Amino acid sequence: MAATCYQSPIKLSFTTSNAFSNPIPNNPPSLYSIKTRFSSGFNLSAVPSKTQTTHITIPEPEPIFSSVKSFAPATVANLGPGFDFLGCAVDGIGDFITLRVDSKVKPGEVSISDISGAGEKLSKDPLSNCAGIAAISVMKMLNIQSVGLSISLEKGLPLGSGLGSSAASAAAAAVAVNELFGGKLGVSDLVLAGLESETKVSGYHADNIAPAIMGGFVLIRSYDPLELIELKFPLEKDLFFVLVNPEFEAPTKKMRAALPNEVTMSHHIWNSSQAGALVAAILQGDSRGLGKALSSDKIVEPKRGPLIPGMEGVKKAALEAGAFGCTISGAGPTLVAVTDVEERGREIGERMVEAFMKEGELKALAMVKKLDRVGARLVSSNPR
Ligand code: HSE
Repeated sequence: MAATCYQSPIKLSFTTSNAFSNPIPNNPPSLYSIKTRFSSGFNLSAVPSKTQTTHITIPEPEPIFSSVKSFAPATVANLGPGFDFLGCAVDGIGDFITLRVDSKVKPGEVSISDISGAGEKLSKDPLSNCAGIAAISVMKMLNIQSVGLSISLEKGLPLGSGLGSSAASAAAAAVAVNELFGGKLGVSDLVLAGLESETKVSGYHADNIAPAIMGGFVLIRSYDPLELIELKFPLEKDLFFVLVNPEFEAPTKKMRAALPNEVTMSHHIWNSSQAGALVAAILQGDSRGLGKALSSDKIVEPKRGPLIPGMEGVKKAALEAGAFGCTISGAGPTLVAVTDVEERGREIGERMVEAFMKEGELKALAMVKKLDRVGARLVSSNPR
């Protein structure tokens, strides 16, 4: 079976009243694109530009496994001055998906059979669930019409924590479906599939989903066309993220609504220079410079910080304990600090937890994590 797919451009609307909310496409992004892969270095992953219409014939692939299990890591979005365009993946925490070919599921459809871990509040309706939305999106891209799939989701990440929980589920699902059918799609396609899910639950921004899929640090250069730049932090350099998650709910949509409609030219210049410095520090493996830039956002953090009880005091405690920098992870409430010594990271985490209790009367949990350089991947598979 074959289908002809028409690659239409992502159309952007700039009529939004909030200058810092992302442009929402008038039409959903086309979900059919040419396979693109990253190799190494500072590659651009390009999908066709808005002037191109590409006609692609995609034969329906056969599943090559009866089931697969995938994992996608937590992510830190924004990294201070990189609001909506910078993010990175962190090692060792994330979500798992087990995906099965299921004869009880209608061909071409997906069902969510089970959700465990931190996901008891999540819907099992695939159209309202991040993993379901991303899985359906990838099935459409691959033109899957003859096979039904079922998903079992193990949530390792707390919901609404600022650790990219929704993106991790979407990324794990997107990769699982792609790999079950032979890994025919590239990262741009998988990011677009995840972006469809993010748009529904969080907003039209790829700074969680792109690093969740690709690993490492990622810069989203543009959405139309989608251009992703992988920023390689040198392998031999040390970098530790101290993630401190308080018991406090901070829905992303509310935290986005807190942002200003306009910024001053001086704040624009400041944040742009800090974002440039942040990118330079990543590429040079300069964790001190990275922390300094991460700590320096004058546009978003000042608006969101006051909505997280104790935030200012916790940041101060992190810096006094030796962190190179500290800011809100994504939309919060998790705070992220950076250092280059793991043991120092644990001390910083303890001071931050104490400060959350003292300044914000919030219990909090600290973790010290490395960069995840791999992103979403298969962890096991069963042949047919
Ligand atoms: N860039 C997004 C925001 C990330 O800060 O709203 C949400 O996790």
